[in-house]
Amino acid sequence: MEKYVINGGNKLYGRVKIQSAKNSVLPILAAAVLTDGKVRILNVPHITDVGNMVKILIRLGCKAEYSGEDILIDSSSANCFEIPSGLAHELRSSIFLLGSLISRFRMAKIAFPGGCDIGLRPVDLHLNGLKRLGVEITEKNGYILCKCEKLTGNEIMLDCPSVGATENIMLAAVKAEGATVIKNAAREPEIEDLQKFLNAIGAKVSGAGSGTVVIEGVKNLGSTDFQPMNDRIEAGTFLVAAAMCGGEVELERTSSENISSLLHKLRENGCNIHTKNDKIVLERSRRLMSVKSVETQPYPGFPTDLQAQITALLCICKGQSIVTENLFETRFKYVPELRKMGADITVINRSAFVRGVERFKGATVIAHDLRGGAALVLAGLAAEGRSEVLDISHIDRGYGSFEYKLRAIGGDIARVAI
Ligand code: UD1
Repeated sequence: MEKYVINGGNKLYGRVKIQSAKNSVLPILAAAVLTDGKVRILNVPHITDVGNMVKILIRLGCKAEYSGEDILIDSSSANCFEIPSGLAHELRSSIFLLGSLISRFRMAKIAFPGGCDIGLRPVDLHLNGLKRLGVEITEKNGYILCKCEKLTGNEIMLDCPSVGATENIMLAAVKAEGATVIKNAAREPEIEDLQKFLNAIGAKVSGAGSGTVVIEGVKNLGSTDFQPMNDRIEAGTFLVAAAMCGGEVELERTSSENISSLLHKLRENGCNIHTKNDKIVLERSRRLMSVKSVETQPYPGFPTDLQAQITALLCICKGQSIVTENLFETRFKYVPELRKMGADITVINRSAFVRGVERFKGATVIAHDLRGGAALVLAGLAAEGRSEVLDISHIDRGYGSFEYKLRAIGGDIARVAI
């Protein structure tokens, strides 16, 4: 067990290089199972979600070899279609393997996935999509069992634009017979990245980034070296950190387009933001003003994965705000922790009513999930005095070298064994 000890109050100055996107790397790792070719994924972030996905691939019989920041996956030796509950519970993204395994083995057995406890997180859309491709599915003793004679392309209409369901169906359809059309597909940039990767190994996928994704089945897939897109949520977290602490921070290897909804809010708050090519610079010298409301939405709306961080920021802005979470039911678990630090927030149903206070005060708080945990770290950095953030294994799931990157720009934060 480890915790962060933070002495708050330092302004942040300097550069941060943004990691490859967790939510892009995970489905790409799952996609590597589809091919007998060799796949090299470049600049893979050192986060536990990736480590757990690699453990699962090895369990399935794939070879995985790290070389510096890159990872080489060779799935030609894959010989197992079952993911045991211990590993599936560590990682929600293990569900993506359903699409890849059914495509490769015509069989898959996977325990219901775990991941951040931020709501019900059903997988009905994933399963209904696979059924439309000809997969027979039964659920027994906490396991999902899938089998099929063959996969046949079909039209699939998603009830809501689920990121995971869109990706899972893409993976299952890549080698199906005929064309699959996913309607009301999620439009997140990570889906476009998965399309790029699949096409790089020889698939025929188009339309990702729009509401309709078309996958024409192919027989064989090959090898590639692939650089995943940058992590827009990590980028957003560092921008909010700079907005909360003050100072001037430059992000490298990022894309302003991918987080325009956040930049829009931060500008409304009073931050100075400049963007050029793959760089974003945020400067904040005065106290920020609240924005009236933030509502999470599927992309290109405000990302649910930045909801906790922006709420922490609004807690120390001048004025009142309402933050509404439309995607996940229990994504306000960090709120009682922020209250321990002096925040004035009331949660009613899916909305948090925030009344800005002058500053956070240092306290001992507990991270309950990945993004909520990151928000607590930001609050600690901006607070007066010393804070401790416990249960930081949640944060390690998604932020590589978090404390090193924060220290490099002036944050006083240390990882301490308990
Ligand atoms: C992905 C991201 C996660 C992000 C989320 C929303 C990854 C690895 N994770 O999660 O970081 O917070 O998108 O941007 O990429 N739903 C159903 N049935 C389903 C599937 C989803 O009802 O079968 C609902 C969910 O409960 C939720 C909404 O659809 O309300 C969106 O979820 P989804 O887009 O699937 O999120 P994930 O893929 O789990």
